[in-house]
Amino acid sequence: MKRIAVYPGTFDPITNGHIDILRKAFDMFDEIIIGVAKVTGKKTLFNVSERAELCRKATEDMPKVKVQEFDGLVVEFAKKIGAVAMVRGLRAISDFEYELSQALMNKKLSNKLDTVFFVPDYKYLYLSSTMIRQVVSLGADVKDLIPDCVEKALIEKFSEEEK
Ligand code: COA
Repeated sequence: MKRIAVYPGTFDPITNGHIDILRKAFDMFDEIIIGVAKVTGKKTLFNVSERAELCRKATEDMPKVKVQEFDGLVVEFAKKIGAVAMVRGLRAISDFEYELSQALMNKKLSNKLDTVFFVPDYKYLYLSSTMIRQVVSLGADVKDLIPDCVEKALIEKFSEEEK
């Protein structure tokens, strides 16, 4: 049986921290589907198609990784794609409470779905998409923290917004 995992999130935008988690999950699963959530309660800079397209470009060299947008419950999406597990990153103790409650709620909603946590490389422990959006909008160079396509898209987006 093919072991499919879902890696859900907002990905506004995807960063090297997310890619690091994907690489860590690589050997455990036959296929990893990045689930880009349409509605997450966050006001996003990129719309869902833009976020998904950036995920696709950023993982072009990872044949096991596919990208899909989803709406509604993540457990329903996981069921639809036949996922046996959900991948999440745990950056710090502050993530733990939130991640634990999400994992338990998802387990209650779908008893067959377990969450597998990976700890990112220390280089990415402090990283978040919000932080990336903020520093790039103020002109910082963070090439080592984001894929090239994301840097380009952020610069374009902020220059469009200035017009
Ligand atoms: N490297 C860099 N950043 C990371 C990271 C890593 N390894 N792991 C997490 N982050 C950051 C993200 O960039 C994000 O930053 P932001 O808050 O600045 O946007 C933050 O940590 C956490 O976001 P993310 O991992 O994208 O998760 P999320 O909390 O935005 O998304 C969903 C959560 C989409 C998975 C969740 O809301 C969901 O499942 N929604 C569908 C509805 C549903 O089923 N709800 C019930 C769930 S119990």
